[in-house]
Amino acid sequence: MTTWSLRRRPGRTLGLLLLVILSFLVIRRLEWSTLIPAWLRHRQLGLHTKGQHFMLEDSIFWIFGGSIHYFRVPREYWRDRLLKMRACGLNTLTTYVPWNLHEPERGKFNFSGNLDLEAFVLMAAEIGLWVILRPGPYICSEIDLGGLPSWLLQDSGMKLRTTYKGFTEAVDLYFDHLMSRVVPLQYKHGGPIIAVQVENEYGSYDRDPAYMPYIRKALEDRGIIELLLTSDNKDGLKKGMVHGVLATINLQTREELQLMNTFLVSVQGIQPKMVMEYWTGWFDSWGGPHNILDSSEVLETVTSIVDAGSSVNLYMFHGGTNFGFINGAMHFHEYKSDVTSYDYDAVLTEAGDYTAKYSKLREFFGSFSDAPLPPPPKPLPKMTYEPLIPVVYLSLWDVLSFIGEPIKSEKPINMENLPVNEGNGQAFGYILYETIITSSGTLSGVVRDRGQVFLDTVSIGFMDYKTTKIVIPLIQGYTFLRILVENRGRVNYGNNIDDQRKGIIGNLYLNDSPLKKFRIYSLDMKKSFFQRFSIDKWTHIPDVPTFPAFFFCGFVIGSSPSDTFLKLEGWEKGVIFVNGQNLGRYWNIGPQETLYLPGPWLFRGNNQIIIFEEVMAGSVIQFTDTPYLGRNQYIH
Ligand code: GLA
Repeated sequence: MTTWSLRRRPGRTLGLLLLVILSFLVIRRLEWSTLIPAWLRHRQLGLHTKGQHFMLEDSIFWIFGGSIHYFRVPREYWRDRLLKMRACGLNTLTTYVPWNLHEPERGKFNFSGNLDLEAFVLMAAEIGLWVILRPGPYICSEIDLGGLPSWLLQDSGMKLRTTYKGFTEAVDLYFDHLMSRVVPLQYKHGGPIIAVQVENEYGSYDRDPAYMPYIRKALEDRGIIELLLTSDNKDGLKKGMVHGVLATINLQTREELQLMNTFLVSVQGIQPKMVMEYWTGWFDSWGGPHNILDSSEVLETVTSIVDAGSSVNLYMFHGGTNFGFINGAMHFHEYKSDVTSYDYDAVLTEAGDYTAKYSKLREFFGSFSDAPLPPPPKPLPKMTYEPLIPVVYLSLWDVLSFIGEPIKSEKPINMENLPVNEGNGQAFGYILYETIITSSGTLSGVVRDRGQVFLDTVSIGFMDYKTTKIVIPLIQGYTFLRILVENRGRVNYGNNIDDQRKGIIGNLYLNDSPLKKFRIYSLDMKKSFFQRFSIDKWTHIPDVPTFPAFFFCGFVIGSSPSDTFLKLEGWEKGVIFVNGQNLGRYWNIGPQETLYLPGPWLFRGNNQIIIFEEVMAGSVIQFTDTPYLGRNQYIH
């Protein structure tokens, strides 16, 4: 009855309600603000600066932060890693937001599953952590193209990270979507986000003076009201600052700390200091060593940072994994792509295990806490499962008949411009280019990043940055020339990010004449790719398999599955898929020799592994409970 009358006379009921509230306030001599819940009422100032201090509302606040990227950690383990962060005495989580993963095709957004940013941020809040969000649009972070979507490169005139219209229009649409999710999570709206970073290390790029003010305004126009920060390393600090935004610094050594502190004070005056990225370790590249940083040195540097009156964020607290094809690359003198593991020699290992850095830093940060720190969660068990022998396989040449018609084109088309994925091109993976030749000679062209060249199905070598020519031996009659090109990861840091198109770029020449009439197969190896060849197509592995090839293996786990590491001794180079999850690339040049396989991605019961091997298969797939990331080398 009451509900009914409320619905029928909303005006009158509202008036009555207001009258009751007003009389209540007058009688109790209270203010309107008392009607706002207490937890929101105290949230008016947020994180702000007062002289040399950060203040959270009325109290001095030290940011003790740590970076974890939700997209590099299986969602099932977010809680475990965040609890470990809290138990280490940290009070703030920092994370990047990868645009390329969230908007894989123009206007098509993905914020679900492992990309559920809001769930991650809210989980941090629930565990008692504040959040500093680093939404880019460019994030560097050893991710393909620094987190920018590859479809931006469809425009041949694209100028990434500038106010070039083609770039800012795309940023605007992405930010419209992203910020509508972020705004309610801000501190002043009751959420945990206390600060937001404007772009990332723009000072080291510095192409367009109008760009940073543009990004700052783009954030503010969409309702970002918390403290804004920039973050720069020593090369960019001078140029990276934006008016009205607090500058922070990124570094690894105590010498840099001294230099940068002095510089910050000279340009910014008395302001709170923050090391936004104190690098607790470093990433690794294929063909290099496994970089490590001594735990005592980490403790000493963190102590010096805090002693110097600076807040600190540990980059990385927990690195995780470059699952799939998401790794980035560097290209200064030489192109070098990053390995699958993003262990980073961080405070927690790639699999979330405790390290010497963890215990030392826990003691350090614990000494600032009034209350005892929460106990660290129990370590997660690791397993060595029985080795597996793959029995069935499919050569790439057989697969071609199941995956649909190739794209036909007079000239080669680069990866980003392939007419696939509703006009968004191909972002990651491999492409097979095929044409017919009738004579021998010298093949030349620009192949990014690595192309295996075949005459029919016989491999005759590789083309890459160094080898831009290859001799085609004498052939008889019409012969298929095939080049399987792998995108090994787009550069994420450096001046050449506009130049990161993959596949065959421009013409491919035989004896200086451009080859024509290509058939192009997009081999992105997404889930939908594998759905195109069903199990009845697989055949027994012959004594001499034809490569490249896919190898399949089913196996049963009796008990509840645990974390493990895959070891591919005898295999040369490829990608591994377990129960549909792309675990990433392996390559026998190292340094990384094992791939992390998280327990939650295994099933009690039947499991499946598919390996795509480019060159040479081993006889078994081994599991181990101990990762091996390569020969250790201390970072200088
Ligand atoms: C810089 C970037 C980070 C990351 C580190 C190196 O500081 O801001 O995104 O690339 O370097 O790990």
